[in-house]
Amino acid sequence: MTLTELEGERSTLGRLLLSRKDLSSDWVPSFAAVPRAPFLPDVMWPYDMDAGTTVAVDRHEDPDTWHRYANANAPIVTQWDDGTTDGQGTVSTSSASMPSVVFGMLRDLDVQAGHRVLEIGTGTGWNAALLAHRLGKSRVVSIEVDPQVADQARASLEAFGLPVRVVTGDGALGYAKGAPYDRIIATAGLRQIPAAWLEQTRPGGVIVAPWGTHFSHQDAVARLVVSEDGASAAGHFTGPVQFMKLRSQRTAFDGHAAYVPERLEGAERFTTHVQEDALLRGGRFSAALFAIGLRVRDCWHQVAPKQDGARPVWFYSLSDRSWACVMFRDGAKADVWQAGPRGLWTDVLDALAWWEFEGEPGYERFGLTVTAKGQHAWLDRPRSSWPV
Ligand SMILES: C[S@@+](CC[C@H](N)C(=O)[O-])C[C@H]1O[C@@H](n2cnc3c(N)ncnc32)[C@H](O)[C@@H]1O
Repeated sequence: MTLTELEGERSTLGRLLLSRKDLSSDWVPSFAAVPRAPFLPDVMWPYDMDAGTTVAVDRHEDPDTWHRYANANAPIVTQWDDGTTDGQGTVSTSSASMPSVVFGMLRDLDVQAGHRVLEIGTGTGWNAALLAHRLGKSRVVSIEVDPQVADQARASLEAFGLPVRVVTGDGALGYAKGAPYDRIIATAGLRQIPAAWLEQTRPGGVIVAPWGTHFSHQDAVARLVVSEDGASAAGHFTGPVQFMKLRSQRTAFDGHAAYVPERLEGAERFTTHVQEDALLRGGRFSAALFAIGLRVRDCWHQVAPKQDGARPVWFYSLSDRSWACVMFRDGAKADVWQAGPRGLWTDVLDALAWWEFEGEPGYERFGLTVTAKGQHAWLDRPRSSWPV
């Protein structure tokens, strides 16, 4: 089937993804043959990109809206709080990813006929079905940590006629029984690329995974090629994304109150020349913040909403109780409060100055090298790298 044979919203979506270059021409037949709808539950929570909110949609109550979202370029939450609630909870823990992200990562994966692929994070099963349609169902294995999600994905894949092997387990361990793989693709965000994936990918094979630091929820897609001796994998990032994190690699943050006293007692106070725009430019995805996260280790930050012309940005150390706050104000110098042994704002400022000095590199100029001993990030080439 081709795009021209599709009608209505699916044809519109296909043309959008093609124009954005997320959908590469080799994936068009699978896009056309494997719609997202058969993998979605009756009640789901699409993220409305225009409104910036998550809405609940019930297929039985409003089938038109349900189908419109199924065929839209929007991420759709399908589970909250690890399944401890049936309704909308606090943390989204499983989803059908945004189609532009799904096809962008499949494009980066660069599969060829005959390849064997391991997917981490089965979720709805849609991505596994796309891979199975392209490569054959026996060439794809997918791992899902949540037993209920795994069961549902198995049922959907079976009903669609692409019964991929779905393993219930921790994807960080890979699936040694099916190794070696030509490709590994993760659809959950990582802070550390597991050594098992390196061992289970053949030399010259490719690992595609959303990766980031504990500095923020923001990730970038790492495209790593395994070296000929199999001892390392390295490559550039291809662009920013946001994913729900691998369960064992979620950021453990103890909350604001564990760090900051009521009246900010004991904090050093000074002003900074840095303007809000220098730190937060780029909106949802800021290359400056990604770069700072690479340089300032074990730090979590939160950008608070602007109120009466003032916006606080908080930084919390994950290795001790150091914290800092910079209060940006329209038309005035920003105030800084900083406490604890680390001097977090000073570290952030150094990292920002370094990023500016390097010509404000975007995500694609950064890269990652992974070995069994650890991982290093780098700018442009692996030559000068630093541990992350
Ligand atoms: C964004 S969803 C995956 C989307 C999916 N590929 C699809 O096509 O619908 C992320 C999934 O990763 C799963 N996950 C989280 N931690 C995991 C782990 N350690 N091992 C395997 N799966 C994990 C979550 O339960 C969730 O279902």
